Amino acid sequence: MSAPTLDPPQEDHLITHSVTVAGSPTPFEAAPEQSILDAALRAGQWLPHSCTQGTCGTCKVRVRSGDVDHRDSPEFTLTADERCAGLALGCMACPRSDVTVEPLGAVDDDTPHHPLRDYTATVLTIDEIATDTRRLVVELDEPMTFNAGQYAELVIPHSGVGRQYSMANPPSETSRLEFHVKRTPGGAATDGWIFAGLATGDQFTLRGPLGQFNLVKAQTEPAILIGGGTGLAPLKSIIRHALENDLVPALHLYHGGRRREDLYDVDYFTALAQEYEHFTYRPALSEDQWSGDDELSCAGATGMVTDVVVGDFSSCKGMSAYLCGPPAMIEAAVKSLKRRRMAPRLIFREEFTVAAAPSAAANSAPDCAAP
Ligand code: FES
Repeated sequence: MSAPTLDPPQEDHLITHSVTVAGSPTPFEAAPEQSILDAALRAGQWLPHSCTQGTCGTCKVRVRSGDVDHRDSPEFTLTADERCAGLALGCMACPRSDVTVEPLGAVDDDTPHHPLRDYTATVLTIDEIATDTRRLVVELDEPMTFNAGQYAELVIPHSGVGRQYSMANPPSETSRLEFHVKRTPGGAATDGWIFAGLATGDQFTLRGPLGQFNLVKAQTEPAILIGGGTGLAPLKSIIRHALENDLVPALHLYHGGRRREDLYDVDYFTALAQEYEHFTYRPALSEDQWSGDDELSCAGATGMVTDVVVGDFSSCKGMSAYLCGPPAMIEAAVKSLKRRRMAPRLIFREEFTVAAAPSAAANSAPDCAAP
């Protein structure tokens, strides 16, 4: 009599699970330790999301069937009551069985979405452009399609830790990407990498595209774009895309910095304003005065950038807004624009976030990045 055969030992960490998004006929597989959101975007299945690091709550889903591991989902984004009610963060939760999930946020079927992929990026140039601010230009091994306003995750070599930065180039440039990076003292990606030894020719992994801040379609409303610091990056992509394709009847860019040396791409946007009648550019200094011999002293404003906008527009009814910068700036801008009668549905925003340090990367210091 032969010995009974035993099933090979199950190694849970090697098992993939099938994920179904309610309403979609096509399930997809999630690899071990892969978040539901990551698996969905790589499979070409769109799910609402913004920060992809557990801080905004945009990716909340209802788990209709099956089990998930919430991993490091923060309590402030996903409360204990919400977990009990079967909710999960798509960007944090991993399936522990086959699951069916239902996104709580609205799924925008009108916007074209591009699958998430990993690329190899080679540094072409890295330059100081303003106080503690660098422009990083990279070449990808393959073209990446994306929407103007989206971002990518730059993976710090030998650490697996990713940091998120918006593309500043338009989607028409699919292989050469531009990022604006502000130094965060002690930041793993900035002080520890981009402001330390990163040089021309260096290679790293880049994941993208991500995020749902975008301008894709033609719109009839004129747009006000307000950027604080490196919040200019996705707005630059949006402006270039809108001008290239004549998508917006008028574009008004406001860029806020504390001091003159915090501003950058001044010559670029000044020239753009001279070239396009329907594009205006107004930089604002919150802690400095314009010097009389500064060629921008006429167009430039003094004060908080949101106050400058309010001073320039007595009514924002029938207009739209694209905002990117620190949370306090976004909050002030939203209040001001609503007071000026802009419809809330026409206010689009991307907030800077401080990168979370999940347990796997607990020794990595946070960086402040857009989004
Ligand atoms: S919490 Fe998941 S995308 Fe922000």
